[in-house]
Amino acid sequence: MKVYITRKIQSKAIKYLREKGFKVSIYPEDKPIPKKVLLKNIKNVDALIPLLTDKIDKQVIDKMTKCKIIANYAVGYENIDVEYAKTKSIIVTNTPDVLTDSTADLAMTLALACCRRITESRKLIDDKKFTHWRPNLLLGYEIKDKIFGIIGAGRIGEATAKRAHAFGAKIIYNSISENKRMKNDFNAERVSLNKLLNISDFISIHVPSNKQTVHLLNKENLKLLKPTSILINTSRGNIIEEKALVEILKKGKIFSAGLDVFEHEPKIHPELLKMVNVILAPHIGSATIEARTAMAMLAAKNVVSVLKTGNKPITPV
Ligand code: GLV
Ligand code: GLV
Repeated sequence: MKVYITRKIQSKAIKYLREKGFKVSIYPEDKPIPKKVLLKNIKNVDALIPLLTDKIDKQVIDKMTKCKIIANYAVGYENIDVEYAKTKSIIVTNTPDVLTDSTADLAMTLALACCRRITESRKLIDDKKFTHWRPNLLLGYEIKDKIFGIIGAGRIGEATAKRAHAFGAKIIYNSISENKRMKNDFNAERVSLNKLLNISDFISIHVPSNKQTVHLLNKENLKLLKPTSILINTSRGNIIEEKALVEILKKGKIFSAGLDVFEHEPKIHPELLKMVNVILAPHIGSATIEARTAMAMLAAKNVVSVLKTGNKPITPV
């Protein structure tokens, strides 16, 4: 049976698939596969392992007449027309859990880098302005006793709350459903989105991107943020109306932002590039050796489970 992988993912997973007897083909270049090339290569595949940068739409799905499973190498799956795949009896899987700690670590990294002004610190040194120790140089904020607002209390939101709680923050969250562990373990209070935006010192976004969450943070409600607040996004860029965020940053209406994802990725708003209080990362939430290896293996194991052993997928969408 044939598997097509749209990028060279971790070799352990490729080796595993080959050991299981699959014929594995891989797009060899380290950039998103052009649509034409994808369509040409997937005609006879039994399984497809795409990346979050690949749009798996009706046209792509229609091409794969033999395909039984699309195993996304990502936890987010807004790149796939899941409803349409379902009508073709194609199973879609993603990679939850295995990247939770990695992504929560990055959310915390950005929170800390923002409140301790790490890019400004580096710039000051690069600019040869570290001339002596100064009582008022680059003062930031501590996390202890601050209100840490989590938007989306799923796996990653909860793991981020755990970290912020360990730093001594008070946790609040906004979520479509109650998360009892957040209450029990971190004494977290569930609040409305507007209240969260209005009272949080740190705000960290952990909702998936879908019709309900696009521009969840927008021109109207971004106005509620405190001038001392720090906004972190490791989810998807289009959850925040980026233009509106740029405006409030430009006007100094919030302290800083830590962004791993962007509305028009990989394009970054030119104004953001100029702001030294904004910490930027190139979508590296799951970029640890541990998480990426586990993501590749989970995608491969979903393929094997569905095609070889006739079992159910491990992590269906
Ligand atoms: C990364 O952004 C993912 O969805 O896995
Ligand atoms: C800081 O370096 C201190 O000694 O207080």
